[in-house]
Amino acid sequence: MSIPSLTIGHLQARLPIVQGGMGVGISMSGLASAVAKAGGIGVIAAVGLGFGMPELQADPVRTNLLALQEQIRLAKQKAAGGIIGVNVMVALREFDEAVRTSIASGADIIFSGAGLPMDLPALVEGSKALIAPIISSAKAAAVICKGWNKRFNRVPDAIVLEGPLAGGHLGFTVEELSNSDEGTLKRLLVEVLEAIAPYTEKQAIPVIAGGGVWSGVDIFNLFKSGAHGVQMATRFVTTHECDASDGFKQAYLDAQQADDLMIIRSPLGLPGRAIRNNFLARVSQGETIPNYCNYICLKTCKPSEAPYCIANVLINAREGRFEEGFAFAGANAWRCDRIISVQELMDRLQAEYEAAAREEEG
Ligand SMILES: Cc1cc2nc3c(=O)[nH]c(=O)nc-3n(C[C@H](O)[C@H](O)[C@H](O)COP(=O)(O)O)c2cc1C
Repeated sequence: MSIPSLTIGHLQARLPIVQGGMGVGISMSGLASAVAKAGGIGVIAAVGLGFGMPELQADPVRTNLLALQEQIRLAKQKAAGGIIGVNVMVALREFDEAVRTSIASGADIIFSGAGLPMDLPALVEGSKALIAPIISSAKAAAVICKGWNKRFNRVPDAIVLEGPLAGGHLGFTVEELSNSDEGTLKRLLVEVLEAIAPYTEKQAIPVIAGGGVWSGVDIFNLFKSGAHGVQMATRFVTTHECDASDGFKQAYLDAQQADDLMIIRSPLGLPGRAIRNNFLARVSQGETIPNYCNYICLKTCKPSEAPYCIANVLINAREGRFEEGFAFAGANAWRCDRIISVQELMDRLQAEYEAAAREEEG
């Protein structure tokens, strides 16, 4: 049995694999276009793309938006007709402008989490861009479907369910994270499918499950539980095409065991999963990095209370400067042991899926 394609509205991806958006500067046009070209959905993370540009200090909002525009243009050009999405976090101060810029630049689909994107349909009205919220509970899925249906007579074109093993910011409390296991994503998936069932009469709502998805066998098993696609991020970091520096990718290769990953509390106000390092140890002992912030990139950040500037720290990490930086990563990052091409990874996932399907058929 061949791996199914993924249909979202008018879009059809040959492989049901969405590359999760990774800020700051980890999934840009290089990675997103490679994934799209290989048959998946490539996603640029909109957050903070203006890093390294001289205009950033004077006009951070405009500089980030111009950089976003340019990354989408490059990705579409290199993807050769493949599907390019943009991940825009609700917590981003320039959320509305980033969504509008993405659409005007030709993004096919907007993925939006780190908050509930209750007003997203209004921002895309009149365009053919599709919208997919990222949620971590059946309750959030139901709230969005109900709210969008009532206010905009619209339901999500797809829903991304991000489980507790994901990297980056997580939609769970620290307690929920410590009580979760390998089976949590599947349980949540069943709950989400049930919660959105009444809305699927209006339109199909494919559910894309992510967080700890490692192999084609994992994809096969999630499909058996009702998923229509998967979102994967960690595995794409250790690819040649990933836009991070070699130093960032090396941090993934250096992680050797599950305990090399840890849960942190980020200035965004959510827990996050990252690779343990000296910088995080110093922060947990109370060290702070005073910073002057003329631009609050996240709506919920309070620079006077934050121990460090999350944007600076993530940009440092992106460049491989870990003395004042840390790498976000999914729970399986320690399993990454070499750098491969996106095409090789996609081929392997497809082959593993199809082998699992054949075995099941007997
Ligand atoms: C380095 C890194 C950065 C991330 N940045 C973002 C982001 O900017 N916005 C977002 O919604 N999710 C972000 N995520 C979450 C991913 O998009 C994805 O949903 C999740 O990591 C999937 O789990 P996996 O990494 O185990 O495959 C990030 C994840 C990683 C590893």
